[in-house]
Amino acid sequence: MIVTKAIIPAGGLGTRFLPATKTVPKEMLPVLDKPAIQYVVEEGIKSQIKTFVVVTGKQKNTIEDYFDTSPELEHFLAARKKEDLLEGVTKIINTANFIYIRQKEALGLGHAIWNARHVIGKEHVAIFLPDDIITGVTPCMAQLIQIASQEKCNVVAVQEVPMDKASNYGIVGIKKQFSPNLFQIRELVEKPRPTDAPSNLAIVGRYVLSPNIFQALEDIKIGSNGELQLTDAIQHLLLSGEKVFAYKIQGTRYDVGTPMGLLKANLDLALRNPKYSEEILEYLSLLDREMVVMQGKAQALSKSVSAA
Ligand code: G1P
Repeated sequence: MIVTKAIIPAGGLGTRFLPATKTVPKEMLPVLDKPAIQYVVEEGIKSQIKTFVVVTGKQKNTIEDYFDTSPELEHFLAARKKEDLLEGVTKIINTANFIYIRQKEALGLGHAIWNARHVIGKEHVAIFLPDDIITGVTPCMAQLIQIASQEKCNVVAVQEVPMDKASNYGIVGIKKQFSPNLFQIRELVEKPRPTDAPSNLAIVGRYVLSPNIFQALEDIKIGSNGELQLTDAIQHLLLSGEKVFAYKIQGTRYDVGTPMGLLKANLDLALRNPKYSEEILEYLSLLDREMVVMQGKAQALSKSVSAA
């Protein structure tokens, strides 16, 4: 099985980042020195994906402009011998194809994926949720594609989460464990209450799915949060007899879909990047010292208030 096409659902309104996302798509918010969506596209290219079908919505035009040439800017940089400033994205533009589909209404992740059905046709497809940046030695999607090809199955990436966070995720129940990181799935539940969660293995934003997912999305009903849920469609595939595996990701996942997650990803990736690590470490230790002084002052103040 060869997987060459990927869907990136990027139609959401990004309400968690308002007001910034009133005009800037959340996928374009920078993580260190490039937009969040570039990380997933780079993971895709390293996993042999050739075509990215980006499902967009209103106010998302800058994503299209970003993965496109920009003659005026290129000319300006060439004259100053600074072409390297665009190197990463130029490489992407020269390597991959982008197809954009407009999701007319934000009716959920499942609906976004369904919108790409005509472009994908009868092939297995990779899905990247751009809120999840996953770093690691081997690209996560390459692992998923390898498992899907070997086992002739659907594969979802999972990660252990604390039980009290289960209701933020799709959670999988396990039928059989093959190795420390590979499982066959018995059931999938979208955003269960912790008491109803079949395990602590949560779906993270990488999938390889059979083309039957599009029919499954038509067959299921609206699910949690009043939206068409991808997790419910995968459960439907499973009930129709398809095998679904879970692969526990190696490496680190950053949830850049919230302001705090984005901040943590920026900090963490800066600390791991030789270009920034020394300066950011110095800054953090300075902040730490200032915090200690501030805490000391606050304690002294509260003591003097209670003594008075
Ligand atoms: C989506 C999926 C969910 C998955 C999560 C991973 O939820 O519906 O199954 O666990 O992404 O990030 P969302 O975060 O869009 O609510």
